[in-house]
Amino acid sequence: MDFLNKHKFLEKNAVIFLIGMLVAVLIGGMVQIIPLFRAETVIEPVEGMRPYTPLELAGYNIYLREGCYNCHSQQIRPLRDEVARYGHYSLAAESMYDHPFQWGSKRTGPDLARVGGKYSDEWHTAHMIEPRDLVPESIMPSYGFLMKREADLDKIEKHLKALRFVGVPYTDEMIENAYNDAMAQAAGERSANIDGLRERYGEDVNARDFDGQEKIVSEMDALIAYMQVLGTMVDFDSTKGMEESE
Ligand code: HEC
Repeated sequence: MDFLNKHKFLEKNAVIFLIGMLVAVLIGGMVQIIPLFRAETVIEPVEGMRPYTPLELAGYNIYLREGCYNCHSQQIRPLRDEVARYGHYSLAAESMYDHPFQWGSKRTGPDLARVGGKYSDEWHTAHMIEPRDLVPESIMPSYGFLMKREADLDKIEKHLKALRFVGVPYTDEMIENAYNDAMAQAAGERSANIDGLRERYGEDVNARDFDGQEKIVSEMDALIAYMQVLGTMVDFDSTKGMEESE
């Protein structure tokens, strides 16, 4: 056959065959890789996901600064033992507003993707100040100094703006009120601005004095606000089709 004869030519000329192979692999590679550059084609939207509040975002920044990701991952893999220990496996949409994402690759400590609501604020505060008071064998460093440092909220508005630039859907109103929303979230019911915060970020946003010291909005407040929202945005009872089959 004519076609097979042509192929014989390829098989007898190694260099041309190699070039042909390379072209075939390149086309295959492009078909796989190029669609991934458009995030909206790979991330299935999930109800409940919202951008972080300014205080949570400040906490996220502290998480990065302190390198918590060196010991903690934020990605639950769809394996039975992980799901049994940590809860529903992570969805792509759950980290769509993280820039950069905090999936991590090292678990010296446990995964934190769903730590929100697992412990009380008091537990977190005590644990961050001295992990060994709660978990005697812990090798986690102490972060008590976060209690004394005021959370850096003066530039948080700019941070929201920068995130909007890379696609996080912060509204003008959210950006304008960033500082006030952060203060309101750390003050809870004591704040006059609490309704605005809830209007912008939802009724069930955690708003209270996270570290229990009223005088300042500390870095501890911000970090715990961030811890307490992790993994709590998506309501998994409403995503029935996604539950793993028993
Ligand atoms: C040197 C490694 C290391 C670093 C750095 C580290 N941790 Fe940990 N973390 C651990 C270990 C080990 C545990 C488990 C023992 C314990 O609870 O203290 C843990 C436990 C935790 C827990 C409890 C999780 C659970 O489900 O029980 C939280 C929350 C936590 N870490 C937050 C943080 C935050 C926030 C930071 C950064 C400010 C941080 N960790 C930095 C090692 C680390």
